[in-house]
Amino acid sequence: MAEVERRLRTIGEDDFPWLDELLRYILATPGKRARPAVTLLAGHLFDFDPDVHISMAVAVELLHTASLVHDDSVDKAPLRRGVATITARHGDAVALLLGDYLFASSAEMVCATNNVRVITLFSRTLRLLADGELREIQQAFDWTGGLEEYWARVERKTASLFTTAAVSGAVLGAATETEIDAVTEYGMSLGTAFQVVDDILDLQGDASEVGKPIGSDLRGGILTLPALLYLGDHPELNEKGPFARLRDERETMTEPDREQCVDEALHLIRDSDAVENSYAVANRLADRARQALGKINRPANPALQSLMDIIDFVVQRHS
Ligand code: IPE
Ligand code: IPE
Ligand code: MG
Ligand code: MG
Repeated sequence: MAEVERRLRTIGEDDFPWLDELLRYILATPGKRARPAVTLLAGHLFDFDPDVHISMAVAVELLHTASLVHDDSVDKAPLRRGVATITARHGDAVALLLGDYLFASSAEMVCATNNVRVITLFSRTLRLLADGELREIQQAFDWTGGLEEYWARVERKTASLFTTAAVSGAVLGAATETEIDAVTEYGMSLGTAFQVVDDILDLQGDASEVGKPIGSDLRGGILTLPALLYLGDHPELNEKGPFARLRDERETMTEPDREQCVDEALHLIRDSDAVENSYAVANRLADRARQALGKINRPANPALQSLMDIIDFVVQRHS
């Protein structure tokens, strides 16, 4: 991971200091680095090759970072990792192009593995990320798709990259097809649980720990698992009350009114059992991830325990 960190700081152009400043800003603010850790650990389960595995881990974190720069522009988000987003500091044009620069750097890095299978996985993931984000735009303030569309979004915008993080480590480590299937299941379940917990934290996290504003999904008209479970139990709120007002009066309401509606909706969800039930869903996904790892029959290996520990971290995290 130290080498991944070092390599992330070498991305840039020697003769373009402004770009380097933007890249340092976005690559040196510490994120959790969960995805590159999964890639390296999945590699260590099989045949770890520092040359290819470290390049792949760097590529995975660069792809993630690019998706965050674009996502913050899409979401008009002011804050990420406790600091102002690129879109807030420099506008959407810079966010668009810096995101592209990061995507391209990520692609170069993955090509350095010389492995067509992981290059294909990588391209497919980038396509799915865009697909997931487009679905979220389409479904903002249109909640008719319900849980089915929620899971379709989560699979594409988040679980796909966790899956690629894990599977690329296994493929580059010459795992068998059966082992790759188990690692795929691990990545899918872990990534889905990760997004469910992110959605819970958006409703009831501590903004200073999360490093992003609370309530942003509701404010943007996005219903996530806890909100969908709550509305499922209170169908009358589809027609009246804070949720319906956020949707139906969004063009005309004042900002203080909007904030009051967000606040009311947040309190309704927090005071219900929807958060607990969402954690139960995340825990079931975590169990599925543990079972998937259990299918890998290799001699005892500390990487296996670390991949298990990441599952616990994902459901227990506060940031
Ligand atoms: C944020 O991912 C985007 C989601 C998929 C929820 P992380 O929570 O991993 O972001 P950083 O890298 O740690 O900031
Ligand atoms: C996360 O989307 C997925 C991607 C960045 C592609 P969100 O909008 O839910 O993530 P946060 O909450 O801004 O980190
Ligand atoms: Mg966002
Ligand atoms: Mg988003």
